[in-house]
Amino acid sequence: MTIPRYKWQPTTLEIAAAAGIDPSDVIRFDHNTTPWPTNWAVELAAAATADLNEYPGASYLGIRKAAAARHGLEPDQIVPGAGADELILLAARAFLQPAQVAAAVTPTYPLYRIACAQVGAELRQVPAVAPAFEVPLDAIVSAARDADLVWLCVPNNPTGANMTPEAVDAVIASTDGIVVVDAAYAEFTGTDWAEQVVQHTNLVVLRTLSKAFALAGARVGYAMAHSSLIDRIDALRPPGSIASISVALAEAALRRPELAARAVETLAAARDILAADLRSLGFRVLASEVNFLLCEVGAQAGVIAAQLRARGLVVRTFPEESGLEEYLRFTVRSREQNDRLITTLRELLP
Ligand SMILES: Cc1ncc(COP(=O)(O)O)c(C=O)c1O
Repeated sequence: MTIPRYKWQPTTLEIAAAAGIDPSDVIRFDHNTTPWPTNWAVELAAAATADLNEYPGASYLGIRKAAAARHGLEPDQIVPGAGADELILLAARAFLQPAQVAAAVTPTYPLYRIACAQVGAELRQVPAVAPAFEVPLDAIVSAARDADLVWLCVPNNPTGANMTPEAVDAVIASTDGIVVVDAAYAEFTGTDWAEQVVQHTNLVVLRTLSKAFALAGARVGYAMAHSSLIDRIDALRPPGSIASISVALAEAALRRPELAARAVETLAAARDILAADLRSLGFRVLASEVNFLLCEVGAQAGVIAAQLRARGLVVRTFPEESGLEEYLRFTVRSREQNDRLITTLRELLP
């Protein structure tokens, strides 16, 4: 079996070269990252360069303690990873055997399918139905019953569909398998998930510093779960996949909740304006509590994305057979950057 690969759009340098523009004029509306530079991190990162001759402490106890304090958990209920992505791959290895079955509501984050393929497990897809792409709770509860692992992306990338903790509880209660809640965008909805981690011994929650904390380049995330599940992930973890500079930044960020709060507040306001502007262009914009908007654009979606890219504006397109061929996903960025997107779209659209 060919294992699918995670597909990135071209890099900023490649896009700038193809468009004949300066890389600083390229704006990434495709990565669901935050728009402002991480100036607060410069001095901390510089200080951390003084002892790069040594390895980072292999247990990453500092991140575990900082994350545990953030959520009112114990350090043994936390395991850090090089982004939520590394933890997704580790969770598949820890909790799925070849030929076992995982389930997920689709369309969703593509790495779950890749993680399953890497361990030889089957992924049963439970389709969310257009136009709203809400989570079909009865269908996922029923699929969860005989699944060894259930991936729940809450809120879901790319549709933005959210699930209440009660709905997630219903899935957890219906299965003896492991439920992985990928809560990469949790700061935007305010659900912390620590309470559920304490209640359930078959729940793993993934968090990241890449989104609301604006540290995507540092590559730090962590899993929260019962200590026995954390131990199974920890056993497979590479010894030092988080660089010491990233450790310093992550520990500091986790102690500064105002960083995430600012992102949530600023981006919520910018999102609502961007959504209204996209609607005024005739796009159907799905409801969103997060830092991205999924829009039904029509058969011209691919053409519009290519035209935007030629002007340095990179948006997320979706492959054939994804069910989202006529959709584009836009990351909410600064008001100024969003305005550049809307102005360019107005010029391009008939
Ligand atoms: C649902 C979801 N999970 C995980 C990730 C990756 O997170 P990280 O940067 O922590 O690897 C993303 C990034 O877009 C995402 O949307």
